[in-house]
Amino acid sequence: MASRRTFLHHLGLGLSLPGLAAFAPPATSRPPFPSPNLEEEAYWKAIRHQFPLRNNRIYLNNGTFGPAPYSVLDALQQSSLDINTSGEYGNSDAERVQLAQFFGIKTTELSITHNTTEGINILAWGIPLQAGDEVILTSHEHAGNALPWLNRAKYDGIVLRIFEPKATQAENLNEVQKLISTKTKVIAIPHVTCTTGLVFPIPEICNLAKSRGILTAIDGAHGAGTFNLDLTSMGCDFYAGCFHKWMLGPSGTAFLYVREESLENLRPVMIGGHSDTGWDISSTPPTLTGYVPSARRFDYGTQSKALAVGMVAATEFHAQIGKNRIETRLQTLNQYLMDGLLELNSKLDILTPLEKESRIALLTFRPKNMSYQVCGNELGKAGFRIRQVPEGKINAIRVSTHVYNTKEEVDEFLDALTRILT
Ligand SMILES: Cc1ncc(COP(=O)(O)O)c(C=O)c1O
Repeated sequence: MASRRTFLHHLGLGLSLPGLAAFAPPATSRPPFPSPNLEEEAYWKAIRHQFPLRNNRIYLNNGTFGPAPYSVLDALQQSSLDINTSGEYGNSDAERVQLAQFFGIKTTELSITHNTTEGINILAWGIPLQAGDEVILTSHEHAGNALPWLNRAKYDGIVLRIFEPKATQAENLNEVQKLISTKTKVIAIPHVTCTTGLVFPIPEICNLAKSRGILTAIDGAHGAGTFNLDLTSMGCDFYAGCFHKWMLGPSGTAFLYVREESLENLRPVMIGGHSDTGWDISSTPPTLTGYVPSARRFDYGTQSKALAVGMVAATEFHAQIGKNRIETRLQTLNQYLMDGLLELNSKLDILTPLEKESRIALLTFRPKNMSYQVCGNELGKAGFRIRQVPEGKINAIRVSTHVYNTKEEVDEFLDALTRILT
């Protein structure tokens, strides 16, 4: 007989609707968190059981959306229930402290946003720039990092200098260096590209930028939750990340890191309650005294406490496994997949660089004798959720793997791909 949880999932009722809380399975029925000492593959299989993700297909698209584990869904649901039964909507002050700690930054350096794109818009409009000022980007930007800067260029005449990513960290550092001119004001590149999963040498680029008085505004959509991220030591001025991908947190949650020394380099274009140090609409003239001395000034309007609680639960999930252990696992799975794809090299071109430092958890390839759409659709029919990549006109298939994936799943994917390409 189907268990209650299976039954609710079958109905598609999920676990996050506050009104259904009384019917959701009690948290005690969750599989226990595995012992860290389990044999490696057994450990990751046990981690898989921490996720309600269905087993009817193999999910290889974490680069777009990271399904949350039970612990995050439970925290979200419990917090929603507490808020909606008490009518006390609270604030996210305590959560902000924990989130900042997770990324190795000060609480005052963190703004809680809703997605990476919002953080990037805060940067693209907030950094004071004049017509003719130059911003460096790549030709492999996601819309979320391209459009805000294109928009600023359209309104204010800033100049976007674009480079084509190369295959090694040394070459990419060199590409950035070559584009720097006396007019360069910002380097606004991704930590990891959405196209091929290429990892840029961000600490080295930030060092270079700093020595030339240039600000770094990093699109960290794929950096948070993949690397053992320590934003202070990374050296960037700004880093916009999200929780709905590799952090495995709730959708609609994200963050913007603003280095303390760079706070005053960013105009708070959108503000609201708690952004200010005082205002009086009735005085003559009406006044805004100033902004709070922290990145909190970039948050505005009512925020969801439940989502912030869900974000903290996501950091706790990562911490329970260990940030280093996650980074190593992602590299291991990525290498395992790379090795399998290399065996198919007569049938496909691998677009992700071979250099280990230049990749982390995404792999992109283009079939040689089949369109990427046909191959992608066939993979879908065979039960694999991947992403097709038209960006940068690279026309390819992207596979991303996270902690809930196993080597067996990678093997199954490679078998299916071999059949499709034969
Ligand atoms: C590299 C990159 N930047 C930005 C974004 C946009 O992220 P968000 O949906 O959090 O705004 C994505 C989303 O896939 C991405 O891959």
